[in-house]
Amino acid sequence: MCGIVGYIGDRQAAPILLDSLSKLEYRGYDSAGIAIRNAEEDVQVLKAKGRLNILAEKTDGGKAVTGTIGIGHTRWATHGEPSENNAHPHTADDRTVVGVHNGIIENYQKLKEKLTKRGYSFYSQTDTEAAVKLVDYYYRKYNCGPKDAISKAMVRIRGSYALVLMFNDYPDEIWVARKDSPMIIGTIKNETFIASDVPAILKYTRNVYYIDNLELARLTAGKAEFYNLDGDITDKELTEITWDAEAAEKGGFEHFMMKEIYEQPKAVGDTLNSMLTDGKIDFGKIGLSDDIIKNISQIYIVACGSAWHAGMVSQYVIEELSGTPVRVELASEFRYRKPILDRNGLVVVISQSGETADSLAALREAKEKGIRTLAVVNVVGSSIAREADNVFYTLAGPEISVATTKAYSAQLIAGYCLALQLGFSKGVLGEPEYMRMIAELQALPDKIEKILQDKERLQWFASKISNKKDVFFVGRGIDYAVSLEGSLKMKEISYVHSEAYAAGELKHGTISLIEDGTPVIGILTQGGLYEKTVSNMAECKARGAYLCGVTTYGNYETEETADFVTYVPKADEHFIGSLAVIPLQLLGYYLSVSRGLDVDKPRNLAKSVTVE
Ligand code: G6P
Repeated sequence: MCGIVGYIGDRQAAPILLDSLSKLEYRGYDSAGIAIRNAEEDVQVLKAKGRLNILAEKTDGGKAVTGTIGIGHTRWATHGEPSENNAHPHTADDRTVVGVHNGIIENYQKLKEKLTKRGYSFYSQTDTEAAVKLVDYYYRKYNCGPKDAISKAMVRIRGSYALVLMFNDYPDEIWVARKDSPMIIGTIKNETFIASDVPAILKYTRNVYYIDNLELARLTAGKAEFYNLDGDITDKELTEITWDAEAAEKGGFEHFMMKEIYEQPKAVGDTLNSMLTDGKIDFGKIGLSDDIIKNISQIYIVACGSAWHAGMVSQYVIEELSGTPVRVELASEFRYRKPILDRNGLVVVISQSGETADSLAALREAKEKGIRTLAVVNVVGSSIAREADNVFYTLAGPEISVATTKAYSAQLIAGYCLALQLGFSKGVLGEPEYMRMIAELQALPDKIEKILQDKERLQWFASKISNKKDVFFVGRGIDYAVSLEGSLKMKEISYVHSEAYAAGELKHGTISLIEDGTPVIGILTQGGLYEKTVSNMAECKARGAYLCGVTTYGNYETEETADFVTYVPKADEHFIGSLAVIPLQLLGYYLSVSRGLDVDKPRNLAKSVTVE
């Protein structure tokens, strides 16, 4: 949520900030703003409601405002409607302090009351304005420097923040502070960059510092100095980002989503290969020896959104291949549910960004209870990756489109690897079966490639249903878990209402919503469940539904029931979710395109949800 950037160096700041913000728009896009200054001149603040391009036009691509130091923000509204007034940067009354913020200040009302009593007035409904004015208050009251003023404010503020501040009296510095919201600091020669996420600065530098929770930093051109809350300097290592800068560009595709759909064979292959040693899965690489794995009594998968859906698929696969009981929990529920956890269990937190607030809180909850935690994360150095006991990095590369595709596919691979290793080390899977299944996983990238070659038929089908108001997805077992993701993909980017149902459950209420022509999409990849689901689809057809089947090549009799059928290659049924999901992603994509919507930036959503 919300993208923040900063720059201090010898180039003009505004064009760089606008460029960096354009890479972070997936974090929020209801308004944008920048604050720019020169050493000698006062800060200039420019804001615009709506997408970043409106701000870019207003500032002539940044050329209209000069200065080599600046901060910027794209907003995903939490407190106060999207408006120019609520857009960041926010300022103290005479612009002594100017700041941008990502996160939520939970006690902002209390802070506002306190500050109002001391003569402050507020022009916006945001929590951020309270934070900036609190810093200003301490700065004046104690006549102290930025470091002490920020530290004092950090002690008072409850909630989460990545805060970037400029002080009028300190023209060569930017100050940052962090708790539970992502922020990285990049340096190169005599330039320093600040961003919520790597793609924003990848073009400029690969050398980054990860600021820790409850730390602050003083940034000057090319330098960063970190402090803890006591004001002591903390040591920080520079980390090199290995992501390729081009990976964060559209590369000729019309949308990031389609580009990322096409990157799935690579994401799947790379993630799998990273876990193989001499042809076998090797969790020892990430600190989980076979001995540890063998003794895991129970798996708790905790995640949000599509990552939770990847967990749902994994649940079926892990239980079937290893006999280990699995629970899949929504992180937002898990954290407040007082879960009873087996001490020999493993909590697996799945997250593309590694920053989702609820998933991070769930991870901490598990750690507090003394349960081993494994993070399945895509973004290196993210909060969840840093706090978990063990980390399985999915190698999907930067994912920009709000609707996840390649990260989800890579998360499935993590689930399969865990299932196979649990099964093998517990003796549930014999070596030949284990090796056969690894070969099945290795064959997935080519099969995904093959599905992508047949995408025009799905484009046609999407145009056929583009004016429908409801769509239902049905399936059983793994097919049901995949339906959940297919349905989410569709509704989040096409705004067509869709629901996924366990095929046998539809008749317990939801079937009353089926009308003449309502599309029902059945996922039919599990041999033992095929006929059952087809029967459920036929029940819908009898009530007027327009049926689509997603099944494997060879199941041509599906065409006798369904009005439209799309095929995926055959594969071991445990892993076929990785194939069945591809047509569903394409369907969501084409439906969004045919309805003329902004595929990569669906309304009301943000890619990385760093608030509760
Ligand atoms: C947001 C995104 C989803 C994502 C979910 C969890 O809602 O729009 O695509 O699945 O957050 O994000 P994470 O980064 O934890 O995987």
